Amino acid sequence: QNSIQWSTSGICWVGGSHYGYAADKFAATVCLCVCVLFFCLECIIKNIKCSEKPTEMESTYGAWMSDASQLDEDQYWMADHFSGRHLWEYQDLSTLQNTKNTIDTKRFYQGCGHVVYKGSFYYHNGGKNRIIKFGLKTKRTQILTMPDTRYHNLTYLFRNSKTYFKFAVDESGLWVIFASNADDSTLVAKLDDDTFSIESVINTTYPTAKAGNAFIVCGVLYFTDDKDRRVTYAYDLKKESPVDAGFDIRSGNGILAMLSYYPNKKILYVWDNKSVQFASTGLDLLLLLELP
Ligand SMILES: *[C@@H]1O[C@H](CO)[C@@H](O)[C@H](O)[C@H]1NC(C)=O
Ligand SMILES: *[C@@H]1O[C@H](CO)[C@@H](O)[C@H](O)[C@H]1NC(C)=O
Ligand SMILES: *[C@@H]1O[C@H](CO)[C@@H](O)[C@H](O)[C@H]1NC(C)=O
Repeated sequence: QNSIQWSTSGICWVGGSHYGYAADKFAATVCLCVCVLFFCLECIIKNIKCSEKPTEMESTYGAWMSDASQLDEDQYWMADHFSGRHLWEYQDLSTLQNTKNTIDTKRFYQGCGHVVYKGSFYYHNGGKNRIIKFGLKTKRTQILTMPDTRYHNLTYLFRNSKTYFKFAVDESGLWVIFASNADDSTLVAKLDDDTFSIESVINTTYPTAKAGNAFIVCGVLYFTDDKDRRVTYAYDLKKESPVDAGFDIRSGNGILAMLSYYPNKKILYVWDNKSVQFASTGLDLLLLLELP
């Protein structure tokens, strides 16, 4: 049960669902000591708290991202609207409305579920049953076909954000949430980001009709209700079993376009009612132990 492991990506974990993020082996050891001191770090979210100053946007739909693998980097990208083929690049948040370095992603993206991870932009290629890894520097496109999935004709995975494939990065790497065209169960694939291939697929059995949005933290998938007001269901992707979770997300009625976890910062990025903001998760910030 209390196995202790280190991975090269700098994650130390103790037992089943207790994680810490550490920059190297020494930091991982420190993380372990902290685990012991505090009787192990919990990695289950109990509530979230939104930042007080949202930045207003022009669009109702969109995604804003930074590189989820970087510990400290002031670089943001925005995919405006739920369909398009350009990304806007920003050096800091305050200028989110007036950059501009634009990047042509060469193919149309669909939805608001993209991520940037290790220098690549991951997105759903609109109108096709395939997902794309696009190197932001290399401009190289890699394609992964997702057979027997819902990808067009308004059969959304998440209706509220017009999304068929929702990418997520957590402490253990890259995932994609999607649905099969055979039934309404929410499926999750663990992706190998190097080879851009599927490592495993997990059937959460949770109906997409009940879900507004979803994000993954420490291998636990959190679903919001169909109005995106509360997290009402959570599922442990490693144990393949439900987790007890319930907390408020927001009180408004506006459209929640995006809700994504950033394991490097332990916060959620939110695009809600035409504005973007952070939400703290209350999880331990072991990444503060970042070492030279
Ligand atoms: C798209 O949806 C409509 C209505 O649900 C259905 O009649 C049609 O066959 C679907 N088209 C495709 C290509 O799946
Ligand atoms: C997911 O699991 C449910 C319940 O066991 C099953 O009915 C459904 O067919 C499964 N879906 C897929 C795509 O495997
Ligand atoms: C959405 O934002 C606008 C102003 O930015 C505000 O007036 C409105 O009350 C908000 N709507 C909801 C449902 O929160």
